Parts: sequence; C-alpha cells; structure tokens
Amino acid sequence: MALQIASLVNENFVGEVSGIDLREPLDDATRDEIVRAADRYGVLLFRNQPLSQEELVAFGERFGPLNVGLQQKIMSKVQSRFKFDAISDISNVDAKTGEVAAREHAMAIMNIGNSYWHSDSSYDHYPFRYSFLLGVSAVSHGGATEFADLRAAYDALDERDKRFIADKIATFYSHNVRIKLGFQDTIEDRTAYPPVQWPMVRTHPGSGRKLLWCDTKVCAISGMTTIEARAFVDEMVEHIAQPNRVYSHFWTPGDLLMYDNRAVLHRGRRFDLSERREMRRIATVDDVHSLGEVGFEKAAA
Ligand code: OGA
Ligand code: MN
Repeated sequence: MALQIASLVNENFVGEVSGIDLREPLDDATRDEIVRAADRYGVLLFRNQPLSQEELVAFGERFGPLNVGLQQKIMSKVQSRFKFDAISDISNVDAKTGEVAAREHAMAIMNIGNSYWHSDSSYDHYPFRYSFLLGVSAVSHGGATEFADLRAAYDALDERDKRFIADKIATFYSHNVRIKLGFQDTIEDRTAYPPVQWPMVRTHPGSGRKLLWCDTKVCAISGMTTIEARAFVDEMVEHIAQPNRVYSHFWTPGDLLMYDNRAVLHRGRRFDLSERREMRRIATVDDVHSLGEVGFEKAAA
C-alpha cells in the first residue's frame, strides 16, 4: 500500500499520513513504510483512527515489544482503567468516579509534570522508541501536545557548541521535574528508576542524523558543576524548543500521533483542569540502552 504523507512543518519534521485504516491488520511492507516515514519525520499524525484498546495494542506490537513496566511499577498504584498494562492513561479522569479528577489528584497533576519538554522514559536504561498517543476526549481550549526536533536542534548548534558537547555525558533522572515542582512522590516511586547516563550527542539509527540528546530530566552533565549543568540544560532545552522547530498539535478525538522518542521532545500545554482531557498511550521499548545506571546521589536534589 502506498501511503500518502503531507509535511506539516518541513520536509523532515511531522508527516500527516493518510490512506490507511489502523484498525486493519498491518502487513510488513506497510509497517516498514511507516518506520521509514517515522525515521524521516520524527512525528507522524494519523487522523480518524478511533482504535479500541485491543486494536491499539495490536497496532503498536507490530513495531516491537510494548512497555508494561511503567504501569506495573508506578501507575497501577494510582489507578488502572484499561485491559492492558501496555496502555498508559494520559488523562485527568478519576477511575473511581469516571469523572474529571480533583485538581490535587495524581492523574490531574501528572499533566503538569508532562508540561515540561521531555522524551518518554529518557530516564530508563532501555527507554521507549516509539510512543503512540491516541486522542479520546479533547478540551475546548489549549491542551496542545507540542513536539520539538532534536536533529534540527543539533544541526543548528554552532561548530563551537558542537565541539563542546561532543564528549559530554548527561545524567537523566525520572523525578527531576516532579521533585522541583514539589510532587509528594514516595521514596519507592522516586527510586524505581536509577538515574542513567547518555552521551549528549547521539546518532539516529534509522536516518543517520546526529541529534542533541537533552531534556528536562537531565540533572547532571560530565565536567560541569551542578549549577553550570542546570543552567546549560535550560539553555539547551530553550534552543531545542525554538518556535521554528516546534509543532503544536490541537487534539480531535481519533487523532493518533506516533513519535520517535530518539528524535523529538514533546510536552503537553496547559489546559483547564476542570475539563476532561483523555488520551491513551502505548510505547515500544528500544533495543539501544543507556551507558548505564548511576547512584541516586547523582540526582543532586
Ligand atoms: C505523554 C505526554 C503530553 C500531553 O503522553 O507522554 O507527555 O499532551 N503527553 O498530554
Ligand atoms: Mn510524554
């Protein structure tokens, strides 16, 4: 099947794919075509794909093993609304009532944690490769999911900064932002994922492009004091998220976004927490792992 793909930002960032029904079984050739498109665009948008839980899982599994650890280790302590541990509940819905959660509820404040630029599970030794986010209910105003291109961000660095980061090692910690914001997470949750180290410059296997590997979970950088590292992370994230490298997606139920966590960062924008906003996410686990885990003392805060 030949997919139709329209570029939404530029020829190498965000493709809108049409001519496919994701509820149908996905043959290898079409799957490979989607992978090639994801290698090029980093983010793919499929509209009008109201997948059931079964269909969502079946589609995702065609791209590799799905992560279940996050639901099992952390999210299930909050609630489980779905038939599969592979589906993450990206919503502000309280499972007990089926209604919008109170603003102090863990489901509501999760969205605030997600409003900082990140790559999903960049804190994990084997992080996510693709995330698939399916829109179920959308808010009337705001609540966009934004994406920023890490490859274009690397390309746009000047030669001096490219040399400066060439041998830098960054430490990513799962609760870096949540602790800063004052989330009252348990010690068990805070220590479920030991911090991991990554080179700040990575090469994307599918496209061969270099990318600037940094997000708001970075808590330390080799050769820098904590103060220098924190300021540098803020500077790099600001650079990554220059408006010309950002796509804002305003949701319609049935939209499915597939994004390559090795190539882009994303964040969820602010919305009225009394409105219902509901997405379901699945993710494949990458087979490329970090340089290794380090002790929690690295996560300075
Ligand atoms: C996610 C995420 C942002 C949003 O699902 O991984 O970060 O817009 N979502 O809800
Ligand atoms: Mn995310």
